[in-house]
Amino acid sequence: MGFPILKLPVVALKVLVDHLNDVELLQLFLLECKRQGGLPEWNFNLRCRMEGRYEQLLRICCNVFDVPIYFDNLRKYDKPEGFKKYLKIGELLVPVYIFYSTLVFTVWESKIDGLIQLLGYFETQLNLPIEHLKLPGKDIEAMERVVKHINSTQTVVKNVLVERYPQLPDYCGEFILENVSATEKLCFNSKLGQEFEFYEGIRAKTIKIRFGHWFTIESLLRSNESEVIHVKGSNYAREELRWFLSQWKAGKLPKLKEVTLSTRVSARDVTGGFERWVERCGKCGFSDISIISIKGYGGFHGSVDASRGCFHMTIHSNK
Ligand SMILES: *[C@@H]1O[C@H](CO)[C@@H](O)[C@H](O)[C@H]1NC(C)=O
Ligand SMILES: *[C@@H]1O[C@H](CO)[C@@H](O)[C@H](O)[C@H]1NC(C)=O
Ligand SMILES: *[C@@H]1O[C@H](CO)[C@@H](O)[C@H](O)[C@H]1NC(C)=O
Repeated sequence: MGFPILKLPVVALKVLVDHLNDVELLQLFLLECKRQGGLPEWNFNLRCRMEGRYEQLLRICCNVFDVPIYFDNLRKYDKPEGFKKYLKIGELLVPVYIFYSTLVFTVWESKIDGLIQLLGYFETQLNLPIEHLKLPGKDIEAMERVVKHINSTQTVVKNVLVERYPQLPDYCGEFILENVSATEKLCFNSKLGQEFEFYEGIRAKTIKIRFGHWFTIESLLRSNESEVIHVKGSNYAREELRWFLSQWKAGKLPKLKEVTLSTRVSARDVTGGFERWVERCGKCGFSDISIISIKGYGGFHGSVDASRGCFHMTIHSNK
């Protein structure tokens, strides 16, 4: 593969790629990275899934291909020398095989060692962030190892999805929250114990929590990098929501654009006494009576929708 494959038009490249199997594609990818001393401009992204039918899975996707990589333990084969294909990953020669047209990496140690090795390779050699990380998976120990790896190498993870099933042991919720931070989006769908409360900030731009009784207002106020925060399954008290509102009004959450917090307290009760923001008329017709607009910090106001069964506010510029 000595020819500059990237000079091919994308259509031609797609035709070529259709004729390559996953091992060849990955080989091509690695060679191309080596040749260019970095990633080619193919919008590469890496996805890591710890759960699902085949458990641990890495996926390398780009404009022209999408290669899933499964892991297997070499020890269970009688004759590992029977492997015909090897992939050169950095200094390592990894025996691989194709199973029903998918690529399987075989490693001497546990499957998770293989996954961590490969993650480490992408991180250190190519500086490739993890686009999607899906947790927890059946194997909690494996999940913990991946999370620790990510934390210790400070690998950037853009989106983290924590699934509801299999059920996480309580301590794992905290472990994940404190050790991986999504830069873009955190979806936390797992149920955590009733006693669990979280006070730290979460850094993701978008936070979506499904059973959020544990997500305290302190935690919300510390999540000051977030733009969108949705918390279901919580029941914030009136005073907590008013505290949040006053802090928001004081400019403590300058990036916030939208917030939904489940509560049994009515929006009118929460916003009572907060100064209203009134749009200067001229362009306005009938205003929606269920919207309560309150004055915010700087040139912003918040529109609280009282018709919803939760506290829902969107933030707008006054202009
Ligand atoms: C985060 O991970 C470290 C190990 O990497 C662990 O010692 C620590 O307890 C974890 N944090 C939580 C809150 O579990
Ligand atoms: C990794 O863990 C340390 C403490 O255990 C924490 O300060 C740091 O923010 C964590 N890193 C990420 C990316 O969340
Ligand atoms: C978030 O809070 C921290 C600690 O109070 C502060 O240093 C940081 O500037 C804040 N970020 C934003 C965007 O306000």
